[in-house]
Amino acid sequence: MREGVGTSHPNIAFIKYWGKKCEEENIPMNGSVSQTLGRMCTETSVVHTEDDVQDDLISYGESEPTKVDLKASRVIKYFREITGDRKALVIRTKSNFPACCGLASSASGISALVLALDDFYRTRLPRELLSSVARMGSASAARSLHSGIVHMQSTHGEHVGEWEELRIFAVVVSSAQKRVGSTEGMRCTSRTSSLFQKRQEGVEKRLERILEAIREKRFREFALIVMQDSNEMHACCADSFPPIFYMNDRSRDIVEKIHELNSDEVIAAYTFDAGPNGFVVTLEPHYERVRRAFADHGFSVIEAL
Ligand code: PMV
Repeated sequence: MREGVGTSHPNIAFIKYWGKKCEEENIPMNGSVSQTLGRMCTETSVVHTEDDVQDDLISYGESEPTKVDLKASRVIKYFREITGDRKALVIRTKSNFPACCGLASSASGISALVLALDDFYRTRLPRELLSSVARMGSASAARSLHSGIVHMQSTHGEHVGEWEELRIFAVVVSSAQKRVGSTEGMRCTSRTSSLFQKRQEGVEKRLERILEAIREKRFREFALIVMQDSNEMHACCADSFPPIFYMNDRSRDIVEKIHELNSDEVIAAYTFDAGPNGFVVTLEPHYERVRRAFADHGFSVIEAL
């Protein structure tokens, strides 16, 4: 039986996208910049099924299939439209990190699915188009179609460079599923937060500044921007009505620990997506010290880059 396979990775945004310009096309409100996390990985396979009419998703370690969610079904719909295929699919997926807790699992899952479908249908779409198709499912997934540092302005991601010395780990403080999904959260923030309107005035300038800091490998400036952008996104969430809180007390412990580590020199940055778990970004010479500051103090750490 024919099988399609795809392997992909999550990415962590240094400049976050929050809000949509067009919900139907899933076009982000603002540009974003990310790093693809090569050590975290999702493997997906796709086959036809003869004995079912509905697509099934089987996650590793689970015995029962679940229905394919909206994000994945948008991507499947695209491939059905261009190939004319109507048969139901079984999608098997396996990640080496916990899913659904703000560890960018939808980026990894959707991008791996796009690659598996492209392989399954032998469509061999160019990278830029694969990235656009991933965006239809989840805009952050569009960035995972590229390695290294990725800039996404509107419809697809583009590789803009590498920073060899950069090291990143995730700090897992909760494996509970997030209470407010990112689409719902963005909708609420863009409708109700005045701080969010203010964010729009400055975020593109900040994006230019971080791209320059990355190009010139100026870690201090880069790290400060990463932390400020994460803080601003979460402040917009808290300013929404009703307020949205993705970070918890343990997340705030991560923030404090980084500021402690940075008291003499900026050696690390924190950043949080739509969940309580953090990502810590540092440089190779400081990696062991920064990692130990978390691992030796009861935090669960996952190497990401
Ligand atoms: O693309 P989504 O629906 O997974 O939303 C991603 C939102 C953030 O992770 C918070 C920011 C980002 O740019 O990745």
